Amino acid sequence: MNLNFNPELCRNETEVESKLIVSYLLPQLGYSPDIWHQEVKLASNRLDFLALLKPLIPFVLDKKAPLSVIIEAKHPKENLDRHQRKLKTYLLECQVRCGVLTNGKQFRIYELSKDEMILRFQCAGSEIETNLDAIKKIIGREVLKRESLETAAASSPAPLSLLPSPSPPLMAMIEEMPMPAPKNNFIKEEPSTMQVIAIYHNKGGVGKTTVSVNLAAALKNKGHRVLLIDLDSQANSTFATGLIKFQFEEEDNLINNYVYHLLEAGDFHFIPEVARPSETFNQPEIDVIPSHIDLIVHQEKLNRIGASRSRLLTKLNRVKDQYDLVIIDTPPSRDLYAEVALITANHLIIPSDLKPFANQGLANVKMFVKLANEFRENMMGRVPLNIMGVLPSKISTNAQFMKHTFPRQKSAVTGYYQLPLMETVIYERIPLSHSISYMKKTGETELEVPDPKSIFEFCKIDRSPSAAQSAQEFEDLANEVLRKI
Ligand SMILES: Nc1ncnc2c1ncn2[C@@H]1O[C@H](COP(=O)(O)OP(=O)(O)OP(=O)(O)O)[C@@H](O)[C@H]1O
Ligand SMILES: [Mg+2]
Repeated sequence: MNLNFNPELCRNETEVESKLIVSYLLPQLGYSPDIWHQEVKLASNRLDFLALLKPLIPFVLDKKAPLSVIIEAKHPKENLDRHQRKLKTYLLECQVRCGVLTNGKQFRIYELSKDEMILRFQCAGSEIETNLDAIKKIIGREVLKRESLETAAASSPAPLSLLPSPSPPLMAMIEEMPMPAPKNNFIKEEPSTMQVIAIYHNKGGVGKTTVSVNLAAALKNKGHRVLLIDLDSQANSTFATGLIKFQFEEEDNLINNYVYHLLEAGDFHFIPEVARPSETFNQPEIDVIPSHIDLIVHQEKLNRIGASRSRLLTKLNRVKDQYDLVIIDTPPSRDLYAEVALITANHLIIPSDLKPFANQGLANVKMFVKLANEFRENMMGRVPLNIMGVLPSKISTNAQFMKHTFPRQKSAVTGYYQLPLMETVIYERIPLSHSISYMKKTGETELEVPDPKSIFEFCKIDRSPSAAQSAQEFEDLANEVLRKI
């Protein structure tokens, strides 16, 4: 993986954290997101980052926890000397041998030796890349894991702490839960690589967005690490996951950081900087790359740049260890953004209400997939897109319809259009449309503001059988998807 780090991009402490530590250093050192934790309260200390040697489930930090490195990030204008004493306290009290102190401009590794803290390595922020091998030799996960095993073998009982002398037990409290407990007793099978699923049909209003956001929620609820990408300038997935909080243009906090920025340039604006948590949409939250109405005005410019078609894939490759599944919601057209989705994805789900226009549109979808496959093969050397199937969506529950019309509509998909059909059916259910348009009252004025929910969250508000059936359908869809990837 070709990761770059540019210290000039770190203008404040948050950027040191996101651009240097999260996007660059931790992946380079071999720490995947399930083994590093941010804002951790350990003993009486609040650590910026704590990396472990292996995942800890359940996440209880005690004397036996495989602690690895503490990383403290400071504002670029901060003098690191002033923070040494605090780092020493952290290392001693948390029984961790190595600690990193950095403000982006300077980078230091300290190590405890007996009760003293020595400076083991330092370089300028601009020299981190060239010194990466030396850094890995001190705090790389593989190196520390090996040392930990050697220490364990040499002493009995094995001290899992990396410090030579065991200290009293540490009681730890964790404030951030990175790995939510899987629901429904589902045993998570790790896919060998991150899988990207595009949800596309060129017919509008067939349920693409509804399927995208609720499938993402269903997969997340099963313990998978999910990223949802909104590639439609209507920004309906962005709205449906609760990311449009502003009421007036001047409060727009999306316009400078949304999916366009991923496509705009190859060497900056990476996924961790653009992704936002979906907050109240679903518990656990989903990471979402938002869209914006302005996406449409950039299309012409991006169209002229051949590289903009493959940038999303390149940037996803940089976070392939951080997500298991990526869902892409697309526009109802054959535009550049739909093309990007079909070029980037491994799999395609085609939601369709199976009505005449939607069915006729399937021929266009097939043609569009063919063109995307040509680009994949000729320009990228990629295998063709796997059409997982046409997903019957917004299907009427009317008994007569189910008996007479639905079977004929389905057979047209497999017969006339020669496309596979998904087994799951997403029926037209009022609670499902209500979940996306759900409003809550705020403040003394009891003003109503949008508070969209996944169907799973909405079931906590609407206890009707119809809501529960809709949630079950998305659970079934998630199971089918997992079986088929
Ligand atoms: N299964 C369903 N039951 C009830 N209402 C649904 C269902 N699926 C979608 N809807 C409603 O239909 C409308 C269109 O759905 P949605 O936005 O998901 O379609 P879309 O294909 O993404 O549309 P577009 O092509 O404009 O992006 C929305 O109002 C949504 O709430
Ligand atoms: Mg949509």
